[in-house]
Amino acid sequence: MSIKDFKRVVLLCEVLKFLNIISDGIYIDATFGQGGHSEGILSYLSKQGRLFAIDRDYAAVRIGKIIAKRDHRVTVIHGQFSKLFQYMKTHNLIGKVNGILFDLGVSRLQLEDNNRGFSFKNNGLLDMRMDTNSSLSASLWLRTASLKRIVWVLTTFGEERFAKRIANAIVTYRKHKNLIYTHELVKLITSSVPYYDKHKHPATRTFQAIRMYINNELSEIQDVLQAALLVLAPGGRLLVISFHSLEDRIVKYFIRAHSLPSLILNKSNSDIQYNDTFEKKFFTNSNNNQYKYYLKFIKRVFPSKSEIQYNISARSAVLRCAEKVVI
Ligand SMILES: C[S@@+](CC[C@H](N)C(=O)[O-])C[C@H]1O[C@@H](n2cnc3c(N)ncnc32)[C@H](O)[C@@H]1O
Repeated sequence: MSIKDFKRVVLLCEVLKFLNIISDGIYIDATFGQGGHSEGILSYLSKQGRLFAIDRDYAAVRIGKIIAKRDHRVTVIHGQFSKLFQYMKTHNLIGKVNGILFDLGVSRLQLEDNNRGFSFKNNGLLDMRMDTNSSLSASLWLRTASLKRIVWVLTTFGEERFAKRIANAIVTYRKHKNLIYTHELVKLITSSVPYYDKHKHPATRTFQAIRMYINNELSEIQDVLQAALLVLAPGGRLLVISFHSLEDRIVKYFIRAHSLPSLILNKSNSDIQYNDTFEKKFFTNSNNNQYKYYLKFIKRVFPSKSEIQYNISARSAVLRCAEKVVI
């Protein structure tokens, strides 16, 4: 990776600081991408340290495999991070991992490849699958989904106020022509919204919404957090970088729900009231034994002005960090 590329790795210094890296430790980069964060983590690890790099995208995995070939500390896994528990069980590492990072969203590798269809800027196939093994591309979905479903997706994941107009334009268009290319969709959007936001391309929200839906992005993060907690060793750190308020909310509530009641009550301005059922729901396993671990919230961090100046796509990022505490 060039220095220029490194400078575009979102919140890199903050990630390395809050992971609190132990040189012989075991770390997971659950969203490997181009490996920027992974390279940073590796630079803090000794020969005994280990890094597991996960990505559901073959293009990312190919890069990971090149690194793994020259660096025996790296193990690359192709797949969804929601299967984290199974992956780590195979390696006999449940409760032994010192830090896990999730850097959610799309990579530049994905955005810059026209034929992946993630970007509205260049024309290409309207695909948007992070894992090209999965069956539903954006194009196929837009050709088959009901009007109601399209409106729901654009409203829920994109907070698009003109969702109905855009969905109507899509449904009318597909009666005559198959929607195959990104620029066909961009044209439909720009011609159906009555006015544009000053600093946002009118297609931004629709593209984001369709991508999040096609890749099940919210369920993925929702499904993995409990597994991450189990996989972590005592004192292990959980770090999540989100770019969407819905993702960040899932992470925030998970950390809150797994915090010690005393920590919740001590937090000023907290709107959560401790009650017994709340704790039992989250801390009781199937044998009715109380788990003896919790999450301690460490910090919420935003990119600095200078980072945003250099890398505008970092502007909506928020990093949350929590630590597994065993009592
Ligand atoms: C924002 S990029 C990560 C960039 C990376 N941190 C870097 O420094 O290059 C997100 C990556 O996570 C992957 N990804 C997103 N959701 C995933 C999931 N549920 N399971 C596995 N990988 C996922 C994407 O394919 C993409 O490569």
